[in-house]
Amino acid sequence: MKAIILAGGQAIRLRPLTVNTPKAIVPIFNRPFLSYQFDLLKQVKEIDEVILSLNYQPDKIETVVEQTTTEGLKVRYLVEPKPLGTGGAVKYAESYLDDSVIVLNGDVLTQIDLNAVLEIHRERRASATIVLTPVANPSAYGLVETDSDGNVRKFIEKPDPNLITCNTINAGVYILEPSTFDRIPKDTMWSIERSYFPSLVNRRETFIAYINDDYWIDIGTPAKYKKVHRDIMDGKYRALPQLKTQGSLAWLAPNVRVESGVKLEGPYFIDRDCVIRKQAHLRPYAVIGHGCTIGEDAQVGDSVIWPNTTIGQNSRVSNSLLGRKCRIGHSVTIGPDLVLGDESVVTDYSRIERPAPMT
Ligand code: GDD
Ligand code: MG
Repeated sequence: MKAIILAGGQAIRLRPLTVNTPKAIVPIFNRPFLSYQFDLLKQVKEIDEVILSLNYQPDKIETVVEQTTTEGLKVRYLVEPKPLGTGGAVKYAESYLDDSVIVLNGDVLTQIDLNAVLEIHRERRASATIVLTPVANPSAYGLVETDSDGNVRKFIEKPDPNLITCNTINAGVYILEPSTFDRIPKDTMWSIERSYFPSLVNRRETFIAYINDDYWIDIGTPAKYKKVHRDIMDGKYRALPQLKTQGSLAWLAPNVRVESGVKLEGPYFIDRDCVIRKQAHLRPYAVIGHGCTIGEDAQVGDSVIWPNTTIGQNSRVSNSLLGRKCRIGHSVTIGPDLVLGDESVVTDYSRIERPAPMT
């Protein structure tokens, strides 16, 4: 059995972080995102190959995956010559498939029981099975309406507010029968959500839903990318980083120098080779990537800082995301709600804050 991970998107909403780092390999703590998806796929013993469906910066993904444990799963890199959309990408992989295929959006983190989904797919001899999850506002997702027998009755991608009839959305996890791919044109930009799923409904094929009530998130916006770190530190998702824990609220990698007078408020995460200078203060939900320096008297809270970034003396970073190798001067204020790309340089005394509301 094969699995396809759709990881070819440009991740525009996560820019500037994704200018150099495709969404599939953004770090979640100290591991690239895809490695959490390998963990999920590992549950299904029948999977003998994972097809990574790529288009945007494929070489970077390949390099990172080669350095990551894929949990014994064999990986095939399939690079589309041009973006084919979610449906076109699945069609592009068709010749490598044998029977039922598991398809994952390359940006969803969940702990769903994939074997249970597979079981119901087989029991019902479905053409397609889709995992649904409840959310507060379905308009940013694919809305999926089902009947009392779990058959999908309606699929509306990014519905207008007046079309929202339920709270269940497409969780980006499917089991599909390749025999249904006849309707997808070859080498053409095609959307699985806007064309393939609605066509299953229209043709009254056996298209069923599996409702997930466990943790689920799509990491594709800055707010949700930050939230996933918070959720993991709060224990809402069970894959904690493999680091020494201090109490239940802190993760501290080897070779971190914590100088005198530093105040560490959990939960926090500090990866290897960091220096936390005198009197610095880590507030809750600070995530510091490897090789970072947090300056004397500096404060960082509710923020994710990518590797090899330096925060100068007496600077404050709150509720923000910072890329790799940033140089933040001293007495700088950053945040809330800021996203700085890799190698940003911020001069001493700068204040980059949320603008005041217009009057
Ligand atoms: N190979 C390939 N080629 N992959 C692509 C392409 C493409 O042209 N376009 C997008 N992808 C990948 C993205 O990298 C991502 O992993 C996945 O397909 C979904 O694309 P997103 O851009 O993240 O879509 P979304 O979040 O707006 O909506 C999708 O996910 C929601 C759940 O998170 C839809 O599937 C919604 O229906 C769903 O509710
Ligand atoms: Mg997404």
